[in-house]
Amino acid sequence: MLILGIETSCDETAAAVVEDGVRVHSNVVASQISTHRPYGGVVPELASREHLEKIEGVVDESLKLADISPGDLDGIAVTQGPGLVGSLLVGINFAKGIALAANKPIAGLNHIEGHVYSVAFEFPPPQYPAIALIVSGGHTNLFLIPEAEKYKLLGRTRDDAAGEAFDKVSKLIGLGYPGGPIIDRLSSRGDKRAIVFPLAEIKDQEHQLDFSFSGLKTAVLRYVRENQIAQVTDPENPGSQIYDLCASFQNAVVRALVRSLRRAAVEWKPKTLILAGGVACNSELRATVRQLAADLQVPVYIPSPIFTTDNAAMIAAAGYPKLLRGNYAPPEMTADVNLRLQNIDLEDTKRSKKVRYRL
Ligand code: KG4
Ligand code: ZN
Repeated sequence: MLILGIETSCDETAAAVVEDGVRVHSNVVASQISTHRPYGGVVPELASREHLEKIEGVVDESLKLADISPGDLDGIAVTQGPGLVGSLLVGINFAKGIALAANKPIAGLNHIEGHVYSVAFEFPPPQYPAIALIVSGGHTNLFLIPEAEKYKLLGRTRDDAAGEAFDKVSKLIGLGYPGGPIIDRLSSRGDKRAIVFPLAEIKDQEHQLDFSFSGLKTAVLRYVRENQIAQVTDPENPGSQIYDLCASFQNAVVRALVRSLRRAAVEWKPKTLILAGGVACNSELRATVRQLAADLQVPVYIPSPIFTTDNAAMIAAAGYPKLLRGNYAPPEMTADVNLRLQNIDLEDTKRSKKVRYRL
């Protein structure tokens, strides 16, 4: 089954052709990083305009690289949400156009579910139950996946996403955008124990696995002020104070993420751990999650960077089971900026009662 995936939920215009949800024939990603860099973050109006300019070329290239025409496709999988409304609409309408012209079925996908499926290309199918930590610039979610396509949200961020925290701290000290890769690189030259940033404690017993990063950002800001650390002018060589600050901040984010992942794994005893989303590129996070998996003797799936950051191959993979069983989107399908992935009632599963599915 040949599926064209289309992803435009944020600042990457992406299209991919994937066979049977696992074999990547093409994976084209046009990044808008240079457009948004001067603003230190994604500007929604600029993002949707650039998607409009690029979508046709990106889809054409993905078909060309796969050496097929729209008539050869068995279906189209497009990101329906969550994301920026103007950006999502560009992908959805383009997908609808091809679906109509070539008479192909279409499926609307949850972007976060796409991240879960980003492990489909380099690893065997996950064993269930699985636990997935999805960390990116827009989301920080911890899911229990008792079986394929069933999700229980165990924890989420209360405020900033993990990637957003990297980006904001980077901006604060004058390091540029996106902050994650820069802080990752500079951290390797610093001492992560130089500054002890405390982890946020979630008081509410029922949401112990939630995350919160806004306090950490404020703690960094306070540290910068109290120690009169000047804005970085030479990002290639900012000096040991900045290396230590980066390493200590990064370590605090990683400790917070892995603390919840460990607690969840101890409670739910997963057979597979999944780490995905742009922040899963982070070298300390990858190493720490690998260590956790080794301690718990659970296999861990962490995709290569091309699949952890936003791409359309993961959307095509997530669309495969849905298109296979004829779960097609109606013609009036449109963007859903707040689309949620939770489809299992939390309490029902915990008490081992009859499970209710909401999606
Ligand atoms: O998944 P993604 O490409 O887009 C979203 O869906 O948000 O993730 C982008 C985010 C950005 O916040 C970026 O700073 C972060 O991932 N990121 C990293 C690293 N590489 C990218 N964060 C920490 N360490 C990295 N190496
Ligand atoms: Zn994403």
